[in-house]
Amino acid sequence: MTKPLTNVTSFARTSGLAGTIRVPGDKSISHRALMFGALAIGETRVQGLLEGEDVLNTAKAMRALGASVERVEGPSGVSWVVRGRGVGGLLEPDGVLDMGNSGTGARLLTGLLASHAMTAVITGDDSLRSRPMGRVVEPLQSMGGSFVSRSGHRLPLTVIGTGDPLPIVYQSPVASAQVKSAVLLAGLQARGATTVIEPAATRDHTERMLRHFGAEVVSEPVTDRPGAVAVTLTGQPELEGSDVVVPGDPSSAAFLAVAAIITEGSDITLQSVGLNPHRIGLFETLREMGADLVMENERDEAGEPVGDLHVRSSKLKGVTVPADRAPSMIDEYPILAVAAACATGETRMEGLAELRVKESDRLAAIAAGLKVCGVSSVIEGDTLSVQGAPPGHVPGGGVVSVNMDHRIAMSFLVLGLSAERAIGIDDESAIATSYPNFLGHLTKLGAKIKKTDISLVGGGV
Ligand code: S3P
Repeated sequence: MTKPLTNVTSFARTSGLAGTIRVPGDKSISHRALMFGALAIGETRVQGLLEGEDVLNTAKAMRALGASVERVEGPSGVSWVVRGRGVGGLLEPDGVLDMGNSGTGARLLTGLLASHAMTAVITGDDSLRSRPMGRVVEPLQSMGGSFVSRSGHRLPLTVIGTGDPLPIVYQSPVASAQVKSAVLLAGLQARGATTVIEPAATRDHTERMLRHFGAEVVSEPVTDRPGAVAVTLTGQPELEGSDVVVPGDPSSAAFLAVAAIITEGSDITLQSVGLNPHRIGLFETLREMGADLVMENERDEAGEPVGDLHVRSSKLKGVTVPADRAPSMIDEYPILAVAAACATGETRMEGLAELRVKESDRLAAIAAGLKVCGVSSVIEGDTLSVQGAPPGHVPGGGVVSVNMDHRIAMSFLVLGLSAERAIGIDDESAIATSYPNFLGHLTKLGAKIKKTDISLVGGGV
């Protein structure tokens, strides 16, 4: 470290996390509830919406496009009420649409704008402005949208949309729910059927919610391409405003689950966590590693599977995580790397190319953070291998650079719970994008926050 840092956040090493937490609403589902509500006729009432910065930026964008979006506090708690404009009915915004840190917000919005006869400009923060938009621009161009962007299809991006998009059959080269969703959103306004073929199944929240709002969406395996899925939407449906109950975000629950697993004497319950089969690869992997993690009270809420997670501290061993599991845990590798650092032996994670284009280059950020904490890891191509040691044996004693990435920030704070010396992060503000009350929830479970000033070159916490 070369410059002094003040007020560095870390957790003191602790034991015995205990209690029950309801983690915040699912980020993917929250974005979609606001966007689909804006495209529906009538009222959409959303309960459990994630009130993180990413989703609040989507709410602002929907207002700028002419939908009414209101936060209402009633006797049964907070709900968000969206009054939409119907498919194809959004209005041209009179300012730039700033999607902050959110790749999902920006990419899904691009699909919406490309299928309306309007011109609009999308931008975002330093992290989002460095992320590739070509993956959505390319199929949307073939549907009739026009785009002007910075080099490498990066934001700011001007979208010149068409009111009469062409239905297409798109073979996506990447397994990405954002790409699939952007094309399907544009396909809503097309005359005919739009098909996206994804090389491997990704989260299907768009498909489930579109059906919930009245659209016809069919998913089927592709014969002779093992793992590939073809998703077909019939264009120009009447979307009807509907009630949406947003489950707890499994990607947020992941941080508390791993915190409990690596902290001696812990026993926690995470209530109403979304258990969509395309999102639970981390929980499967943790169990393979030996984690005491049980799904209880499994049920269905508004078209999504939900349950409670009961998690106790456990002795972990290293495993190999195959590449074909990546789509179901794509956001969970930073926190899996933390679990791997506290597992006996080596954990090998394969097929991680997509991590390079997340909120930061997560592959590099994970390896750099582990190094700061005294944990060895190796990147070979798209594979990351972490050499672990039992909980309590991670040296720690450094400050991890967050690089505007909420998941890197939360992961390394969690590792500090069982490290020999504290682990600090250089910026806690990023956490608000997806989990505004993260520090509060860990404190409620019994963790203690430390604030430290570090003034020595190379100093630790
Ligand atoms: C998301 C899809 C994933 C994921 C992101 C949310 C979504 O991105 O990483 O956090 O809501 O569709 P990719 O589509 O780039 O894999």
